[in-house]
Amino acid sequence: MTATLLFCKSIVLLSFNNVQLTFQDIQPTPDALKGKKKGMVFLTPHRVLFIPKDQSKAMKSFSMPFGLMEGCSVEQGILVANYIKGKIHAQPAGGWEGTATFKLSFYSGGAIDFGKAMIDVATHALRSGSAYNPVVYVYESVSFMPARRNNYYRSAAPVVYQGQQQQFAYVPGQPPAAGGYYAPVPPTYAPDRPPPPSQFSSTQPPPNFPQAGTSGGYYPSAPSVFANYSSPLSSPDQPISNTAGPLSDFNPPITSMPNYYSAPLSPDSEQTSQGLAANKSTKSTIQKNSNAETNFKYLPLLLIGAKVLLKKSLLSKMHKSVEFLLVSVIVCLWFIPLRTESQLPSEEESDDENFHCPSVCTCVFDDYSEELNVYCSSHYLTSIPNDLPVNAKAVWFDSNNFTVLQSRAFRNMSNLDFLNLENSHIVSVEQHAFYGLNLLVHLHLERNKLKYLVPNAFLHTPSLGSLSLNNNNFGKVEDGLFSGLSHLWYLNLGWNNLAVLPAMGFHDLPNLKELILAGNRLTYLQPQLFISLVELKELDLSGNLLRIIKGNIFVKLQKLQKLYMSCNQISTIMPRAFMGMKSLRWLDLSHNRIAVLHEETFSGLLNLHVLRLVNNSITGLRHRTFRELQFLEELQFGYNKIKSLSENIFGGLVQLEVLTLNNNQIQEVKPGAFVGLREVAVLNLSSNSLKNLPDGTFKGLLNLHSLHLENNAVTRIQPNTFSGLFCLRRLFLQNNYISVIDNQSLSDLKELSELDFRYNKLTRLSSQAFAGVPNLEYLLLKCNELQYISDATFQPLQHLSWLDLSENFIEFLNNYTLKPLTKLKYLNLKGNSLRHFPQQFLQQSSQLEQLLLEGNNWHCDCSLKSLRVYCLKNPHVVPRYFESAMGGDETHTIIYTYNITCASPQAIANTDLRDISEDYFGHC
Ligand SMILES: *[C@@H]1O[C@H](CO)[C@@H](O)[C@H](O)[C@H]1NC(C)=O
Ligand SMILES: *[C@@H]1O[C@H](CO)[C@@H](O)[C@H](O)[C@H]1NC(C)=O
Ligand SMILES: *[C@@H]1O[C@H](CO)[C@@H](O)[C@H](O)[C@H]1NC(C)=O
Ligand SMILES: *[C@@H]1O[C@H](CO)[C@@H](O)[C@H](O)[C@H]1NC(C)=O
Ligand SMILES: *[C@@H]1O[C@H](CO)[C@@H](O)[C@H](O)[C@H]1NC(C)=O
Ligand SMILES: *[C@@H]1O[C@H](CO)[C@@H](O)[C@H](O)[C@H]1NC(C)=O
Ligand SMILES: *[C@@H]1O[C@H](CO)[C@@H](O)[C@H](O)[C@H]1NC(C)=O
Repeated sequence: MTATLLFCKSIVLLSFNNVQLTFQDIQPTPDALKGKKKGMVFLTPHRVLFIPKDQSKAMKSFSMPFGLMEGCSVEQGILVANYIKGKIHAQPAGGWEGTATFKLSFYSGGAIDFGKAMIDVATHALRSGSAYNPVVYVYESVSFMPARRNNYYRSAAPVVYQGQQQQFAYVPGQPPAAGGYYAPVPPTYAPDRPPPPSQFSSTQPPPNFPQAGTSGGYYPSAPSVFANYSSPLSSPDQPISNTAGPLSDFNPPITSMPNYYSAPLSPDSEQTSQGLAANKSTKSTIQKNSNAETNFKYLPLLLIGAKVLLKKSLLSKMHKSVEFLLVSVIVCLWFIPLRTESQLPSEEESDDENFHCPSVCTCVFDDYSEELNVYCSSHYLTSIPNDLPVNAKAVWFDSNNFTVLQSRAFRNMSNLDFLNLENSHIVSVEQHAFYGLNLLVHLHLERNKLKYLVPNAFLHTPSLGSLSLNNNNFGKVEDGLFSGLSHLWYLNLGWNNLAVLPAMGFHDLPNLKELILAGNRLTYLQPQLFISLVELKELDLSGNLLRIIKGNIFVKLQKLQKLYMSCNQISTIMPRAFMGMKSLRWLDLSHNRIAVLHEETFSGLLNLHVLRLVNNSITGLRHRTFRELQFLEELQFGYNKIKSLSENIFGGLVQLEVLTLNNNQIQEVKPGAFVGLREVAVLNLSSNSLKNLPDGTFKGLLNLHSLHLENNAVTRIQPNTFSGLFCLRRLFLQNNYISVIDNQSLSDLKELSELDFRYNKLTRLSSQAFAGVPNLEYLLLKCNELQYISDATFQPLQHLSWLDLSENFIEFLNNYTLKPLTKLKYLNLKGNSLRHFPQQFLQQSSQLEQLLLEGNNWHCDCSLKSLRVYCLKNPHVVPRYFESAMGGDETHTIIYTYNITCASPQAIANTDLRDISEDYFGHC
């Protein structure tokens, strides 16, 4: 999540980070617009706003009101980030003149989402000409999947990942253009499935899987990432994020979730608040929009179509011609009638004389690979054209309306290697439909309406390597359907209606490497089902109705590396059920009903790296359960029913780095429970029932880096609770009942940089509370009952940059209390009972970026004169109005008014300090 300050009265609907803005065709080009600018892009109801990360350059922000944009398109790149381009007309007093071509490249994704939302919002804004009218609208995030297991990306039919649906406050426009472009479909992959290994980039199946035991693409986050604990956190000499302060209410610098994968304070989330406040150009934008209707002609135009130019995936070659490798996705506006075929872009048609291209398709001959690609996507075709060029290598027929795939429809296509028929309303496939496709390797039939395939449907396609049948309505798979497919390495039968599988169904697939059966209704796996899949590397059984895992089912899967069985109803795992799976690296059993783990449950998993058992019914852990898992790096037990942790239960897990036990019912952790876990970096015990943390609780966690104890019932921090945690950087104690921090109790935590004590019962902070934590940078004490802070309390905290004391009962802060905090950037004193402000602080705190003062009992006499001057001079430090915008998972925007209301003297009570006239202080 990132936070930013914008000018008053604009709601941010959508934002994306890591976007690059470039301009072309401006005469003359002002210096400020030259070069590449990286930053964040925002969509508001009236415009697109780009804010460069580097605020030291001339251009602090670039505003593009919809009324001044023209001819926008979303372009999908191959090996380059997707981008939005278009024209922008200068607005008066904007610092430049004329018209420019702009290009916004989305390096971390989002171009499609952004473009889609932009057009909806623009239409709405320009039509109504009204101010914003936000309505929460479920907006799905769309990701593209490679249709071919190489670097070819399709131009149509995106796959919607349900697991990552996003909700944005969003102004709905008309429904999207026809064609089901954004129609939700069941997920094609389990949400937390790791991305496919990068080795898939080779054109020729089978893919080159990394060997088990190597640090290949299989681990969710390369262990080395969090082995280097110093990197994710801001070390003193790194620039510290100056995240907009007030957002700490819901976007504190410390998140409550484990953060071992990413840095909460990474430079990416940086956003300066300076320079964004009320800018001339932004103001003129608002005025501009009031007569937006007159600018209707500039409505951005996005067109759907498929203009494709693809090249073979030889990386070296590709880099040179990267700009040519674009699949333009041009999106049609809903109110423009669907373009007729004759209007389709034809400039890509090759002038090669050797083939004839059907009129509805686009044919592209790739000089480099010498392959002919034919694109016939999204044309409402009801039958396969019979004049397809016979030398075509790849054909895209996705998003059409075939209903029946007729016999011998492809009879002349003997060169075809790739055939995409997904999402084409196919209900049935006639007996010899694939006749003639002798060389076909990739067949996509996913997202159709198939219930059944004749047993010899693939008789004519002996070369098949990958077969996608997911997201259909298959209720059964015929015995022998796959027989003869000895080259098949990828088979996806996920998200169908399968309740049983033919016992011998996979017996003729000796080269199968990846089998996806997720999202069906399987209750039972026959003992012989997987017996001949000796090459299988990945098996996905998640989202079925399995109840029991019997022994020997997986015994022959000696090369299997990933096994997903989450979201079933598994209550029983027979002892030694995973015997023989000596290559297994990843085992996910989350969201089941497992109650008991035996000593031998995980026997044989000698190479396991990740074990997930989140959301089961496990009540206790036994001593020897994990003893063989010496390579385990991640063990997740969140959302179970564990009540206590006894000594030495994790013995053997010498490589473990992440251990999560959150949301259990743990009341007691015996000293020594974590002994032996010498590599653990993240320990999550949040949301349990811990009251006491006796001495030695965390003994042995020599490399612990983040400790989550939030949402427990801890009442006191004792002197030796955290002793020995010399590497600890982040300690989360929010939402407990802590009333006392004993002197010196944090004193071993020499590396501690973030400490979250929010929502506790602290009434005072003794002078020694923070002794021994010299590197603390973030201290959050919001929502305690603090009345008094000793002068010496903050003395050791010379590196503190963020101090949140809001919502306490502090009545008085003297000049000495804050004096040591010379590095402070953020100070929140909101919601206390302060009458005076320690003036000296303002003189010494040159680095202050945010000071929040509202909700106190300010006594506005001469003692606040200098504070008033400071506030007026530094409105960016002491903001009066601002809106918040949170990107990432949600966009939730609110406009705040931060008043510094005087409580007394009577004459000016209820006036904002900044509104009091200078004369009032004249006598001071
Ligand atoms: C840890 O990170 C620092 C800074 O990024 C780097 O210099 C150092 O080499 C890294 N250490 C290891 C073991 O990767
Ligand atoms: C607003 O933008 C202009 C450039 O267009 C810049 O000169 C000015 O400093 C900006 N205002 C603020 C408050 O940053
Ligand atoms: C698809 O074709 C069927 C008839 O084959 C027709 O009834 C239906 O309206 C078509 N759908 C679309 C979206 O064109
Ligand atoms: C396709 O094959 C049939 C015979 O099976 C032949 O009559 C026809 O001309 C062929 N079409 C093309 C375009 O080659
Ligand atoms: C746990 O699993 C059940 C059923 O699989 C699901 O309904 C529930 O939402 C899950 N709870 C959590 C916290 O994931
Ligand atoms: C802080 O010091 C100033 C003198 O620099 C003094 O006038 C003021 O009363 C002191 N304020 C407090 C709250 O101690
Ligand atoms: C701030 O002051 C204005 C008037 O000066 C008032 O309308 C508003 O409600 C106040 N806001 C808060 C949060 O107190």
